Amino acid sequence: MKKGISRKFCVAPMMGYTTPYARKLYRILSKNSFLFSEMIATKSLIYSKSKNNIIENDFNNPVALQVGGSEIDELKKASKIAIDHNYDEINLNVGCPSKAVQKGSFGACLMQDKILVRNCIEALQNDKIEATLKCRLGLGKELNYEFFEKFIDEISKTGIKFIYVHARNAILSGISPQGNRTIPPLNYNFVKEIKNKYPSISFILNGGINSLDKAENLLKEFDGIMVGRLIKNNPFILKEVDKKIFKENNTLIDESIIYNYFEYIKPKLGFDSIFRLLSPLLNIFFSVPNSKIYKSKINEYMKNQRINLIEDLLIKFVSESNLR
Ligand SMILES: Cc1cc2nc3c(=O)[nH]c(=O)nc-3n(C[C@H](O)[C@H](O)[C@H](O)COP(=O)(O)O)c2cc1C
Repeated sequence: MKKGISRKFCVAPMMGYTTPYARKLYRILSKNSFLFSEMIATKSLIYSKSKNNIIENDFNNPVALQVGGSEIDELKKASKIAIDHNYDEINLNVGCPSKAVQKGSFGACLMQDKILVRNCIEALQNDKIEATLKCRLGLGKELNYEFFEKFIDEISKTGIKFIYVHARNAILSGISPQGNRTIPPLNYNFVKEIKNKYPSISFILNGGINSLDKAENLLKEFDGIMVGRLIKNNPFILKEVDKKIFKENNTLIDESIIYNYFEYIKPKLGFDSIFRLLSPLLNIFFSVPNSKIYKSKINEYMKNQRINLIEDLLIKFVSESNLR
């Protein structure tokens, strides 16, 4: 098992976003952030024909593979797959509230059965990889510290070292996964309290961290923080993370980001859709005024698979705009 990896600043697992391509871009932008895959159901990981496309790692370490599942044999296999693909960590999703995930008996609904979650973590554990958990505070509309504490009491018996907490409840019916990221109230105090009870476990705080300033402040009190939507909406914020959070000098030039990223995706053209390959980079236009003309040109070039023209256009865009 690899030691000494920092989980001070983590980019949250996000289905449809933290693809291998996005992770490549994130790694170009920040050397030190800890990255996550999207949640992958254990069955897909083991049986899907396109599994190699989804789990590709390409040395974007440090990185965790997040899985959704509750079948012990599948979880054991998933752990071996993560090791074979050079992941640093395998993480169990016990936070996703979607109906489909509930039907498959994984995600947030597992918080109802803490002994099963304990068994799942034990199935993932292996001396070659760190097995971790991402969970919520509880289930339903009412916040209940005792429920959360009892859940963690059970999980702590596995000897787990890292627990990521999306610091709000999940509501399993009546609201969408999106609503489940805004409607249940956040409560960071529960995480503070449990951290005091279990000083040997690192609790990584997640939920509602919407600026690097907020992240920096929370790091005074928490072992690490995890951000999702802030990075989803504007991955280029990661350019500041090594400097602001890890206190390193950052000499990254925007053009080099584009060159490095295209070097990685060009050989993949034809094996995956040009949209999937390019979509992480297209957020470069986030809140940039007058970027419409660039966007429409890029759309036109995408339709015709003109990847070199897109690269030239983006290089022109970053050299002309004041992104740095
Ligand atoms: C589009 C999207 C997809 C997500 N997919 C996952 C997922 O696959 N696994 C997971 O544990 N959480 C998932 N989440 C939840 C995030 O990991 C995170 O817990 C949540 O967004 C709260 O963090 P934030 O306030 O920093 O965005 C997803 C969130 C978003 C916005």
